[in-house]
Amino acid sequence: MTAALQLENVTSGYGSAIAVRSVSLSVEPGEILAIVGKNGMGKSSLLKTAMGFLAVRDGQVRVAGQDVTRLPPHTRRDLALAYAPQEKTIFQDLTVQENLRLALPGDREFAARFERVAHWFPVLGQRFHQRAGTLSGGEQKMLIVARGMLTGPKIFLLDEVAEGLQPSVVARLGEALARMRADTGTALLVVEQHIPFVMSLADRFAILKAGEIVETGQAAADNAAVIEEHMRI
Ligand SMILES: Nc1ncnc2c1ncn2[C@@H]1O[C@H](COP(=O)(O)OP(=O)(O)OP(=O)(O)O)[C@@H](O)[C@H]1O
Ligand SMILES: [Mg+2]
Repeated sequence: MTAALQLENVTSGYGSAIAVRSVSLSVEPGEILAIVGKNGMGKSSLLKTAMGFLAVRDGQVRVAGQDVTRLPPHTRRDLALAYAPQEKTIFQDLTVQENLRLALPGDREFAARFERVAHWFPVLGQRFHQRAGTLSGGEQKMLIVARGMLTGPKIFLLDEVAEGLQPSVVARLGEALARMRADTGTALLVVEQHIPFVMSLADRFAILKAGEIVETGQAAADNAAVIEEHMRI
């Protein structure tokens, strides 16, 4: 089976600093792989490198078998790769609808596509004409995820979507992501520090430490404590 996303010995960084060190991983179609690690370990840099926002210094990135190492982010998006960044990248003064429209300018299928996305995030339908800045933190995260899903990705990179949310909202977001994967078969590469959340969502995990993968395994809700212990070392 061809991996939805494959990184082979990928190294990247900022100036003379290395942020991602010879990382190899693959995400199979429909699979959820969690990348966990403490602050500053290179999780966001890894996703930025996969998406093409941070240049690869060494190694290769493949999307559905195609070498995209030297391709810009928009071309990777056309190959059904989507990215939900850690930063709040929505326009606060635009409505939910306008924010989503920007992801698909001129798309005639917008209404049908949105209907699909609203199935996982019904609150966005209720807030469709509301300014995005008036949404709660959790709703803004849902908007960022919805924006990525609208493009119909085969592989979706998610950077700490549960960050700063209260437990009930995290639980709802987890359920929505699980349903989204089940309905569409979209593979997810999920960066998280919220270990119980991601261990119940993901199929496999990898621990990132100083830019390197130091441990991998099967994810399960009941090994969350073990993973948290590993992360501390
Ligand atoms: N734009 C940048 N310029 C220079 N160095 C950067 C830049 N962004 C990140 N770094 C450095 O790269 C390393 C990895 O940062 P990165 O943001 O990938 O970590 P992270 O695991 O996502 O952290 P967090 O959990 O806090 O989001 C850190 O040492 C960080 O200081
Ligand atoms: Mg980060």
